Amino acid sequence: MAQYHQFDAIVVGAGGAGLMAALYASRSVNTAVISKLYPTRSHTGAAQGGISAALGNLEPDKWEWHAYDTVKGGDFLSDQDAVDILCREAIDAVIDLEHMGLPFDRTPDGKISQRRFGGHTNNETKKPVMRACHAADRTGHMILQTLYQQCIKNNVKFFDEFQVIDVLVENNVCNGVVAVCLATGETHVFQAKATMIATGGFGKMWRITSNAHSLTGDLPAALLRRGLPMQDMEFYQFHPTGIYKMGILLSEAARGEGAVFINNKGERFMERYAPTMKDLASRDVCSRSIYQEIRAGNGIDGKDYVYLEFRPEVVNRYFQADGNPKRVDAAYMEKRLPDIIDFVRVYMGIDPITQPVPIQPTAHYAMGGIPTDLDTRVLADEKGTVVEGLYAAGEVACVSVHGANRLGTNSLVDLVVYGKRGGMKMAEYAKQATLRPVRQDAHKMGEAQLSAIRDNPGTERPSNLRKELQVLMDQEVGVFRTGAGLEDAIERIHALQARYKHLRIDDKGYKFNSDLMEAWELGCLLDLAEVTAFSALSRTESRGAHYREDFPNRDDQNFLKHSVVWKNGGLRMAYKPVRLGRYAPTERKY
Ligand code: FUM
Repeated sequence: MAQYHQFDAIVVGAGGAGLMAALYASRSVNTAVISKLYPTRSHTGAAQGGISAALGNLEPDKWEWHAYDTVKGGDFLSDQDAVDILCREAIDAVIDLEHMGLPFDRTPDGKISQRRFGGHTNNETKKPVMRACHAADRTGHMILQTLYQQCIKNNVKFFDEFQVIDVLVENNVCNGVVAVCLATGETHVFQAKATMIATGGFGKMWRITSNAHSLTGDLPAALLRRGLPMQDMEFYQFHPTGIYKMGILLSEAARGEGAVFINNKGERFMERYAPTMKDLASRDVCSRSIYQEIRAGNGIDGKDYVYLEFRPEVVNRYFQADGNPKRVDAAYMEKRLPDIIDFVRVYMGIDPITQPVPIQPTAHYAMGGIPTDLDTRVLADEKGTVVEGLYAAGEVACVSVHGANRLGTNSLVDLVVYGKRGGMKMAEYAKQATLRPVRQDAHKMGEAQLSAIRDNPGTERPSNLRKELQVLMDQEVGVFRTGAGLEDAIERIHALQARYKHLRIDDKGYKFNSDLMEAWELGCLLDLAEVTAFSALSRTESRGAHYREDFPNRDDQNFLKHSVVWKNGGLRMAYKPVRLGRYAPTERKY
């Protein structure tokens, strides 16, 4: 027997987008948040370097420059009306967070401190601009703490450690979700007028990733199973600076503070790939450049990594060469980048103040996801049909502001701007809608998926399948892709899906059965990997983070369009046009 709950608005996911949506919805309607984690453990907490807004606190800046950089960074695939909202409303959103109590770092005269980040420029000089507002290198962590406090104050009801396994969508109407209480294994049906999905990314389909273990794409997979599509799944970002072999994120803020990439010859190689922005070129450009150096035999000791240098004397040498008057010392670096310096000391046993740091690109961020309109309403097809009562925001959604490649710090902007917008729109809708009845057997589809795993007498261990998937995705659906590699990947994912039907888990119980839930999450990852590889195979051009070695050029004639892919009843692809605006596509140079 399932337990039933009723709310005006429910939000699945307690990261920045979810909490922002819940906060704004709860100002006028009865709101709950359902999260498989304790909220302050959400992955927004791992966003380090900053949140961009053209405040112009330290040098001239304009939100239109931020918008242009975002569109250019996205290789002109972003919908420009969505980008205008993002960059214009970023300014108020940051001030809003400040007023809620977020402890931003300050300039000597008390303004919010800002630093440089990749791809953010003064559009006139083309040089990097200080646009990223930050709280040391713990900006996401501070956003999470601030919003959680505000939600508690606003009487948002939290269901912590409840894992959502199904979304109740039928005939393009959503009536809520089905979840498992992890502590008891009991099924709960959450009935709502408005449901928001804000569950973040799904980077665990790769082996080297900055993503937390929880980021397994549960809700996107649930929607695919309910016949809804995903958008732009071929565009997945690899952050240039993951700790070698571990993938743990070392914030781009390090390069914002002056760190540089160095190869085995001691060269600052980004001078060759991006003569103007150098180490602060966009992430797709930096990640490809690192691999090109490795392929050319310039990895450190011939291996598959290069160095990130933030020893103060090295940083100062390059500042001097660039004619930048800034100088840093160890105390400055420790103050501005405390967490990442600590990560390197703890995980690598290296002191970045005195030693270079081995890094390699790490799977970081999904530009694609659940298609939405500007009001965060989920779309059922390429024609713009709205799913009534269903919303999505943050990384899980594709609105689409990031296009083919996101700029650093724009994820946090996306969460707060579209989280807030979504929360307000949900409340507006819920105030005039009536609660729709859910079917008595609403929970059966999700429960059947769990029983099929729990009761399976098979022999396949989920951990083996997961490892094989992750290695395959690193090899064939990574920074560089080819048609042959992607075809091979799809075939091998299908083979893994066939083996998935013969899983074996040891824990047959109900209480905190992580064996069961991880096996279920693996099924979600397999489905998302399949649509990712299929979308990447279908796009025979290179754009942003999607680089096809067999089609190395951008092809605006044929591919200035978003992909929309369905999975139920076989893989199916449609396309929809990009909404252009002030900025016509041009060649992208950094
Ligand atoms: O490098 C970073 O601090 C990551 C930020 C982001 O992904 O926006």
